Amino acid sequence: MSHDLFEAAKTAMAKAYAPYSKFPVGAALRTEDGRIFTGANIEVASYPEGWCAETTALGHYVMGGGGKITEIAVIAERMAKCSPCGGCRQRLAEFCRPETKLYLCDNTGVVETVTMGDMLPYGFRGDILK
Ligand code: THU
Repeated sequence: MSHDLFEAAKTAMAKAYAPYSKFPVGAALRTEDGRIFTGANIEVASYPEGWCAETTALGHYVMGGGGKITEIAVIAERMAKCSPCGGCRQRLAEFCRPETKLYLCDNTGVVETVTMGDMLPYGFRGDILK
């Protein structure tokens, strides 16, 4: 991964609105044609109504035209290798392939590289619904 995806996730993390958990998270997705979409977590006073950084990034990605996602980076200020929650794994998988790379980061860069297939084996696939 070129360092720019990590930097994009880190810049996004700085925009987190996380006054309740004080756990800022940033995510960045790269598409095959080189576009980068980012997101941060956004919390609300009614706690379950908040959402994750990955979900914000996916919203930007869809509204920006979508495309094939090739790489994802996730960073959290207070945790190295913060991995996407179960709901975000399902959301990411909707737009990724099992071989799509996911970079788990700390404050200095990528710490571990996994794949979406590693993250969500035997996940529900919506093919039959189409
Ligand atoms: N969070 C994310 O944004 N992404 C993750 O991968 C894990 C958790 C957020 C949700 C909530 O705002 C805060 O981190 C604490 O759970």
